[in-house]
Amino acid sequence: MDVLIVYGTYSGGTLEVAHEIANTLTEQGHKTTLENIMTTSDAGTYALNDAKVLEGVKSHDLVIIGSCTWFEEGEEGQMHSGFRMFEKKTDPTTFEGVNFAIYALGDSNYAQFCRAAEHLEKFIADKKGSVAVPSLRINRYYARPQEVKKTIRQWVQQLLTTAKEKPRS
Ligand SMILES: Cc1cc2nc3c(=O)[nH]c(=O)nc-3n(C[C@H](O)[C@H](O)[C@H](O)COP(=O)(O)O)c2cc1C
Repeated sequence: MDVLIVYGTYSGGTLEVAHEIANTLTEQGHKTTLENIMTTSDAGTYALNDAKVLEGVKSHDLVIIGSCTWFEEGEEGQMHSGFRMFEKKTDPTTFEGVNFAIYALGDSNYAQFCRAAEHLEKFIADKKGSVAVPSLRINRYYARPQEVKKTIRQWVQQLLTTAKEKPRS
């Protein structure tokens, strides 16, 4: 399968998890592409990577979206601001026929633990996408990365037994 992993991170954990997912997939013969929801333009400005992500969403068999959970615009439990901006660039059918899987990083010391996963689930459902497996919620990744790796690998296995390649015309 051709798998796109789109991630949003502030302190790097969500990217590390993206690499672990990608390694697990490539070991099993799948092709993976990583995209940051944010990018740095030639002029050096931090900008939304919407064009590349939208193009990738249409051309892959499976899209894995990963976000940290953060405090945004006065509210706890939000998805990365890049996904909030990206949502505004989509229309009600943008994700029609696209298979997704979601993972979120968080910390159970916060009342809104890993709520980014729920925001992403709603975003995808609102735009007619489908979600292949229950979302993976990762608690305190930075404190226990080795332990979490095993859980990530199990989740990817579950995903592979559910997700199917898109028929090619
Ligand atoms: C300012 C701030 C706000 C956070 N808010 C939440 C939250 O509401 N819910 C939660 O589960 N985790 C929250 N976290 C924890 C982060 O989601 C967690 O540390 C995550 O691993 C960071 O991912 P990243 O390294 O990809 O940025 C917060 C962390 C910070 C620093």
